Amino acid sequence: MVEKYANLSLVLAELIREQLQAKPDSCLGLPTGRTPLGCYQILSTWSANNQLDWSQARCFQLDDYIDVQEEFSFHQYLQDNLYRFTNVNPKNTFNPRHIADYDEQIASLGGLDLAILGIGLNGHIAFNEPGTPVASWTHSMFLTEATRDANSEFFPDENEIPTRAVTMGIQTILGSRRLVLVASGESKRDILEMALHGAVTVDVPASFLQKHDNLLVLTDFDINTEQLRAEP
Ligand code: GLP
Repeated sequence: MVEKYANLSLVLAELIREQLQAKPDSCLGLPTGRTPLGCYQILSTWSANNQLDWSQARCFQLDDYIDVQEEFSFHQYLQDNLYRFTNVNPKNTFNPRHIADYDEQIASLGGLDLAILGIGLNGHIAFNEPGTPVASWTHSMFLTEATRDANSEFFPDENEIPTRAVTMGIQTILGSRRLVLVASGESKRDILEMALHGAVTVDVPASFLQKHDNLLVLTDFDINTEQLRAEP
């Protein structure tokens, strides 16, 4: 499976490189979590070797925790795993926790060109947990126990696991001109199957991606990645 994850990471890194080469001032939606780490390692190597120019790129993290020690924040995650290896302008790295109107900030810079999404085991995208309406913009919310548990390994003890986060909304995400959804590991098979081929429902926020007309799904396991075409 490792070579498959390595291949998934390389394909994703090449997509981002192509986007930046085609449009150097691209507005990118960047995910966190385990899945994109291999891709970020590749992008970091290319960037450190001056093979990738981020000087005009605008980077929007999808989400961040609210009640979190900075060292465990997604802002720090991106700083540690990507930004510090690149020539991105810190003024062009955006965090929804620091900006009062994130959607206005995105719109003022021309909208997202490419957003990369992971998928949570409960079908969340960014931190849009089950029950989030499709007509949602950037908002803060309480994390489900399932999500807190899934991310507990990143915290020294359970008292440090955040309870609240701020996230791009479903509409914010669907507003991106291109979407890439990445899923790694057999544990994501069932939820991805539901998201792509099941009903479009608030119970599985990733199912709203069926509405998008430019979605690419990348996985390191065999699954039919053609999404059903939901009503636009
Ligand atoms: C977190 C993040 C999501 C991410 C999900 C899956 O909740 N907010 O953006 O997609 O977890 O993470 P992983 O890739 O570690 O499975």
